[in-house]
Amino acid sequence: MSKVYIETYGCQMNEYDTEIVRAVLQQDRYDLTDSPAEADVILLNTCSVRENANRKVFGRVHTLRHENNGRNVKIGIIGCMATDFKQRLLDDPHVPVDFIVGPDSYKRLAGIIRDAFENEEKGFDVKLSKHETYEDIYPVRQSGVNAWIAVMRGCNNFCSFCVVPYTRGRERSRSPLSVMNEAKKLANENFSQVTLLGQNVNSYSYDGKDFAYLLNKVSEIDGIERIRFTSPHPKDFPDSLLNTVAENPHVCKHIHLPLQAGNTRVLDMMRRTYTHEEYLDLVDRIRAKCPEIVLTTDIIVGFPSEIDKEFEDTVKIMQAVEFDSAFIFKYSERDGTLAQKKYPNDVPEEKKTERIMRLNELQKEHSLKRNRAHIGRMFEVLIEQEQTKKSDTDIQGRNDGNKLVIIPNNGYHIGEFIQTEITDATAHVLKGKVINHK
Ligand code: 5AD
Ligand code: SF4
Repeated sequence: MSKVYIETYGCQMNEYDTEIVRAVLQQDRYDLTDSPAEADVILLNTCSVRENANRKVFGRVHTLRHENNGRNVKIGIIGCMATDFKQRLLDDPHVPVDFIVGPDSYKRLAGIIRDAFENEEKGFDVKLSKHETYEDIYPVRQSGVNAWIAVMRGCNNFCSFCVVPYTRGRERSRSPLSVMNEAKKLANENFSQVTLLGQNVNSYSYDGKDFAYLLNKVSEIDGIERIRFTSPHPKDFPDSLLNTVAENPHVCKHIHLPLQAGNTRVLDMMRRTYTHEEYLDLVDRIRAKCPEIVLTTDIIVGFPSEIDKEFEDTVKIMQAVEFDSAFIFKYSERDGTLAQKKYPNDVPEEKKTERIMRLNELQKEHSLKRNRAHIGRMFEVLIEQEQTKKSDTDIQGRNDGNKLVIIPNNGYHIGEFIQTEITDATAHVLKGKVINHK
């Protein structure tokens, strides 16, 4: 039996896709391995959303080829860099890659690998599909408490900075029935949490059913205690979803609401289709309905032509909202995007660095403040790991709001729910003591 080793870069959707690929290859009698040194096939599931992810993969291909010199190993690039890699390979046939398969072609992967061994031919399949959702494939997951379920694929929004609509193609939703069947199977396998994934879950639509309908249906499944989702777009956040988050006890009180920028002119150039004020109004609407909500976000600094005064509008939104946490990125120009075609990448690197440092500092203050507000309160913590990075005598899990909670280990196990009182907090974690466990 041939052995496959897969390395995954980028977002949760890619993690999920790796699980799909494992399933497809296992059906074709491949064995999985955690070690590239014993693999016959090495796959890199790539991400192209920002420049550094791109560069990392190129370096990695060369290292893997070098380390496996002399063995008949096929190295394949799959995922979001597929189309880009194909072009590079056509330009330079010496790039040490044997085949390239895009995110909608995983069902053909086994055949392409076979061809690579039999014909020594470089195989490509980077075609994007309007229909492929893999809803007929049950992913091979690693054990744990959380399972990802992609409920839709692709994106039609074409935010001007973003390469996803080009690498992953048009938006398409899976049937609610297929999502429910997958969640039921997961519950039987003792996964107590599912995270529903989509580039913009607010556009989920299947036979007139919206995303709130899907969340409510999944929440009725016995054994699924917690449902998370990511991400909704601020431009079209519906009341149905807000009510579901606020009222359904199985739906976690956490919303990841990508801001991207705080200035309305910049937002307009980004094609986000909301203004500074509309974003703040949405946050007010969410907090009015669900005061305990945990809000997190994504922010890009140094979008083309963003001046200091406009950057200050991002600071203002952060100060007004006080997010629980934020992923902050420097703008990175992506080939083929509208921003790359229309706007020169003209904010100097030092300016981007200065801005990202300022926002990271500010976010740290807000995270600390919001985490410290948890001290003295009780939360149910779902245990995820039986030790922490720093200690073997502590255990870690998450509360409903997705905050990491560290608790002294008294023989608790992964998957247990523990009633915890928060006793201390840093900007990154809460610390707790156990009150009760079930
Ligand atoms: N440059 C910087 N950050 C980007 N993101 C997406 N595209 C880019 C880009 N070209 C960020 C956005 C998005 C997150 C997943 O990655 O903030 O929400
Ligand atoms: Fe990219 Fe915008 Fe689609 Fe998100 S919504 S994947 S940022 S184009």
